[in-house]
Amino acid sequence: MRVVRTVAALRTGLADAPRPIALVPTMGGLHEGHLELVRHARAQSATLVVSIFVNPAQFAADEDLDAYPRDERRDAELAREAGADLFFAPGVEEVYPPGFDTTVEVGGLTRELEGDPAQRGSEHFRGVAIVVAKLFNMVGPDVALFGQKDAQQALVIRRLVRDLDFPVRVDVLPTVRDDDGLALSSRNVYLSAGERERALALSRGLRAAEGLVAAGELDAERVVAAARDELEAGGLEPDYLELRSAEDLSVVARVNGSTLLCVAARVGPARLIDNVILRAPEQPVPSPPVTRSSP
Ligand code: PAF
Repeated sequence: MRVVRTVAALRTGLADAPRPIALVPTMGGLHEGHLELVRHARAQSATLVVSIFVNPAQFAADEDLDAYPRDERRDAELAREAGADLFFAPGVEEVYPPGFDTTVEVGGLTRELEGDPAQRGSEHFRGVAIVVAKLFNMVGPDVALFGQKDAQQALVIRRLVRDLDFPVRVDVLPTVRDDDGLALSSRNVYLSAGERERALALSRGLRAAEGLVAAGELDAERVVAAARDELEAGGLEPDYLELRSAEDLSVVARVNGSTLLCVAARVGPARLIDNVILRAPEQPVPSPPVTRSSP
């Protein structure tokens, strides 16, 4: 695996690289969720690029940019073991040189949930969109892989790709969880043992909602209430807990087709997000009426 830090070195490294090229963009702090993406990417590509860039543009002034876990040596070793060919770790000035003055803004999707001004705000997704657009232009991947844990981010990136005609397929892989249900996140390192225990209420809430839907309850209020009860029992007050269309994040009154239950909550110093896709149970297909035809 080659470590490259500049766009020029990346392009040289990719000049004769066999296709398909896969890209796994990350902010480092690699965990099993990232490594699942890397292994999956490895299995379907001839050339695999893992990028590590803690993107200042997607952090608000009061967020954890400085504290965000950074251990490049460990990340590079994990990426190498998982099969990466190129490890792209640019500095901030390589991505945002002096005078950088371009924005990429995806519309309505970025103003919901995390994009609400009371949460991270749409500026967060503006930061994600610009860096992902830049990484796509730098690497020119055939496929890029993201995790379903950041469900809204995945939708925003799909929309970016569609609207700007990036010639890349976006694969979104299921959330990887610890055995106790906690969704893996680089931010879990902020949690003390007690906070980690409390954080389990997030996945318990999502599972409670899933269980209710599996039992046939489709009413949004009742499904959300089941999740809220678990959060409250665990001492968590969510920043939001909402049932939305998994296609466009519109508000839904009932679980139908593919519906996303998303939650964000502060646990100690960490702000954690999680989600589950809820699907209404299959209705038995009524047998067609028996018709007799005369010979
Ligand atoms: O999901 C992340 O780690 C980041 O938001 C991404 C997609 C690498 C952009 O910085």
